Amino acid sequence: MNRDTPLVLGIESSCDETGIGIVRGSTLLSNTISSSMEQHARYGGVVPEVAARAHLEALGPALTAAVDEAQIELSDIDAVAVTSGPGLAGALMVGVGAAKALALALDKPIYAVNHLVGHVGADILDDRGEPFEYPAVALLVSGGHTSLLLVRDLTSDVELLGETIDDAAGEAFDKVARILGLPYPGGPQIDKAAAEGDPTAIRFPRGLSLPKDMAKHRYDFSFSGLKTAVARWVEQKQDAGEAVPVADVAASFREAVADVLLTKAIAACRDHDVPRLLLGGGVVANARIRELATERAAAADVALRIPPLSLCTDNGAMIAALAAQRIMAGFEPSTLEFGADSTLPVNDIQVP
Ligand code: KG4
Ligand code: ZN
Repeated sequence: MNRDTPLVLGIESSCDETGIGIVRGSTLLSNTISSSMEQHARYGGVVPEVAARAHLEALGPALTAAVDEAQIELSDIDAVAVTSGPGLAGALMVGVGAAKALALALDKPIYAVNHLVGHVGADILDDRGEPFEYPAVALLVSGGHTSLLLVRDLTSDVELLGETIDDAAGEAFDKVARILGLPYPGGPQIDKAAAEGDPTAIRFPRGLSLPKDMAKHRYDFSFSGLKTAVARWVEQKQDAGEAVPVADVAASFREAVADVLLTKAIAACRDHDVPRLLLGGGVVANARIRELATERAAAADVALRIPPLSLCTDNGAMIAALAAQRIMAGFEPSTLEFGADSTLPVNDIQVP
């Protein structure tokens, strides 16, 4: 195997995006994503069974497209990479099965890696300047996860500082959009509505931010109380026969989410004396989160990195990139014994 600049094909299927990415060392060659988002719209959230079936249908065409775009032959690759977890069990199984089949058919080694660490690895592929240095704090926010990681070394030392104890941030956006009568996925809709609203109109709660919570949950998040607070506030308006000021509610809610995410992320940087913050996940598209991240990072003398959105949302390129880094660092491949692990801990960067 070429360990200097390995050609790696990555498969990602942990949620509703079927991603196939191809990298050569730290260089992105292709990043094909097929999303089943539309099929989940009428349920207001990702339905695991629907996602799994959609992966099955999307994988073949996505693989062909990725190989074509990278202008390689499948037989050229040095290794196959795949997300082993965390994520939706049935969805993960489809990717893991496909990756094993591909590795066997091509007689290539397989690297089964961690989805969350993959989000951090995405930064390697961002060609707008030097790759981020470590240690760094990573804040990953999507429809499926909200996690704060301390990355001392991308390939060998990642620690979970905290995560959501209930809803993911993206899920909260989706649920609040529903309360406001906005369509799924709610994040972009709320972001748009909020642009016209006053973020100080309503003071919504910042979950797990009171001193008594901070002792036990300093880096953890909770969005379910915030969602309930929005629902109550809207109900009261409706019961009183008043119009709901959608833009103000959206802006105030968005502010509460952005505030709590960045307060905790910057606190993690400060506590660990780490002057670097990396953002990842689909919620990073949010205009206010980006703006507040820029402001707070500058004020705290923290370097901020936000990879391009196509690398922030779930994708196969980040999985290939992480595996390529592991290969270059000399790690051995996984055996074919591994399975999908929906709760894979973040310190398991690669499964044996
Ligand atoms: O990472 P991602 O594409 O995939 C999954 O988690 O599957 O994230 C999707 C989530 C959804 O919950 C969506 O509402 C949210 O990201 N999202 C946003 C924005 N764009 C997408 N949330 C807030 N503001 C946005 N602009
Ligand atoms: Zn993700």
